[in-house]
Amino acid sequence: MAEHKVLWVDDDRDILESAARLFRGEPWTLVAVGSAEEAREHLIKDRFAVVVADQRLQAASGVDVLAFAKEKSPATSRILLTGRVETSVIEEAVNRGHVFRFIAKPWENEQLLVDIAKGIEHHQLKMTQASLLKEVSLQNRQLERLTSGLEQLVTERTVTAESSKIEAEKQLAHVRELVRFIKDLSNLTSVDELMGLIRKELKGFHEVRPPVLGYVVAERRPMILFSQGKQIVEREARTMWSNRSRIRFNEHEDRQYLANEFGRPFVKVLAVPLKRRAVASDSEAESPATLFFEHQLNDDKVDRFLSFVSERLQPLSIALDRILLEYHLKYTSLQWESTFDGIKDPIAIVDIDFEVVRSNRHFAGATGQRVYDTKCHKILMQSESVCRGCPVEAALSSGEPQKGQVKRGQKVYEVFSYPIRIKGDSFLTNVINHYVDVTSSRELHGRMVQSEKMAAIGLLAGNIAHELNNPLTGIRSLAQVLLAEIPEGTFKEDIGEVEKAAGRSQKIIENLLDFSKGGTEQKQELISLNEIVRRTLPMLKTAMREHRSEINMSEDEACVKVEPHLMQQVVFNLVNNACQAMSDPGTITIEVETVQDEVGRRVSALHVRDTGVGIPPEIIDNIFEPFFTTKEKGQGTGLGLSMSRSVIENFGGQISVRSRLNEGTHFTVSLPVHPAPTSAQASKGQTK
Ligand SMILES: Nc1ncnc2c1ncn2[C@@H]1O[C@H](COP(=O)(O)OP(=O)(O)OP(=O)(O)O)[C@@H](O)[C@H]1O
Ligand SMILES: [Mg+2]
Repeated sequence: MAEHKVLWVDDDRDILESAARLFRGEPWTLVAVGSAEEAREHLIKDRFAVVVADQRLQAASGVDVLAFAKEKSPATSRILLTGRVETSVIEEAVNRGHVFRFIAKPWENEQLLVDIAKGIEHHQLKMTQASLLKEVSLQNRQLERLTSGLEQLVTERTVTAESSKIEAEKQLAHVRELVRFIKDLSNLTSVDELMGLIRKELKGFHEVRPPVLGYVVAERRPMILFSQGKQIVEREARTMWSNRSRIRFNEHEDRQYLANEFGRPFVKVLAVPLKRRAVASDSEAESPATLFFEHQLNDDKVDRFLSFVSERLQPLSIALDRILLEYHLKYTSLQWESTFDGIKDPIAIVDIDFEVVRSNRHFAGATGQRVYDTKCHKILMQSESVCRGCPVEAALSSGEPQKGQVKRGQKVYEVFSYPIRIKGDSFLTNVINHYVDVTSSRELHGRMVQSEKMAAIGLLAGNIAHELNNPLTGIRSLAQVLLAEIPEGTFKEDIGEVEKAAGRSQKIIENLLDFSKGGTEQKQELISLNEIVRRTLPMLKTAMREHRSEINMSEDEACVKVEPHLMQQVVFNLVNNACQAMSDPGTITIEVETVQDEVGRRVSALHVRDTGVGIPPEIIDNIFEPFFTTKEKGQGTGLGLSMSRSVIENFGGQISVRSRLNEGTHFTVSLPVHPAPTSAQASKGQTK
């Protein structure tokens, strides 16, 4: 423990000495001074545990010294020595000097030591208290500093946390925007919609006008797409834009390009090339597309706009790529489709199982429907089996194009089968079938044959007629002379018969010439079917010779409007067929009657019946087809009935057939009845 000092101030030397004596051996040091002045000096320089002052000092009072001591060191214990205790002194001492003890003179040594010791202890206590207080306040201050530091830290952290939360939210919203944009892009199906979307996205940039999109479609045509009011307009570009692949800002070349296209100046332009894949393997590597933004952005906003654009660049490129690829595919397939549909002949790709893989519009015929996944013979022939004459199998097995002929209803097709390989097959599985309708050319050919036949008959008949006509004229005129000259009775009647027979013979010759004339120089005229039959029968005599015949003419001689020689050919064909259908002698019935048809019209009907082999039901639908014949080669052309039908239908009539196998066949021709000809017309008809 540090040594404690006791300052004793008394102007009585004895007192000071006795105090010194008393304190010897005590654990404190006495500093004894004789005046208040000295005491003050010590108090300024030094620190004392206890100050003892005599109340009455020369030129000062002890209370003053103690008050000074209190001022200098409040922890010092102060003791006042008094001769006698006066209340006023005590009051002053207490009020000014904060006296710890009063010691009365003369003091009790024992008591004095105790009081001094207590004063020291008090001082110590005070000192400890003060240092503790100091410590506490120091700690308090530190704590305060710490607390305020922490508070600041907390405030700072809170601010940081809040701002980073806002930042994070901002970024999240930004990402969400981009995701939404990409989603919107993926739903687009046309460049128009793409432009619409970009316009919508640009709403945050009022200084940017709706863009112009330049892109290339199939066949490398440059197109431009732009907004005009609310409309989006697409047109072919006059020229191609710059094909450089970097983003260009206000470059002269781009401004010039747009000015040329739109005929007005463009001051500020941002050109953004969109990367595209090549649309087809054979096209050149690049199919450029570029977005042009006309703008009035100031320097502050340019950055924002550029990052806005570059963030969207990739999804935009992909979306445009997809849309244009779809365009291209659609365009190419449309091009092929219209190419094939443009061909008037039926065309179909047919596989090894005769399934139609694809076909053009004309393949399906009258329905006009495109046909898929159905057998070609079902569509073409309405038949479950492969068409007779179909060249598909031969083409597939030989690997070479083959030609064949198939019939479909009235029509005859020449089929060209070209084998092809699809889907990388190692062997041939498909053919392209090209069907050429040869019905009319075949018919023409048939007609030529027929008319050649007729012409040959005509020539023969003409010659015979010519040769016969002269002798017949001779016979007839001789008979007439004889008739005029010989008397009644003798052979007059017989000679009359000769004359008539010669006359009839001449008429037959005339008809023969008519029949064989053919051609079109004849005009339709009113004539009865009775008359047609009458004129035709002589030509059928040979054919009918072996058979019985029954001829029933109509009673009313109702007239129809026809070309007589053509109508004669119809009768000839029907009767000739009937004769050929009867290998054994049978009966041919020819009947003409006037009846009412199902709608109440008067029609003249011609019936030709035979008792021949009949027509099998499975072919009865085919007999009117051109070239359909069951007769041996060279025997029939298969054109008789088809020509008859076309002739009858031309005259506004109908032809029908009923048949029973091994019993016979019945053909009916019906033609509308026309009002009877005037007598002049009739006589003209008769003389023919
Ligand atoms: N009366 C009939 N009885 C049985 N079959 C007939 C009769 N008429 C026609 N047919 C059948 O119809 C087919 C077609 O007759 P169509 O008159 O058109 O030709 P075609 O007689 O065979 O030859 P073309 O008349 O050119 O000499 C005949 O081959 C025959 O099979
Ligand atoms: Mg015939």
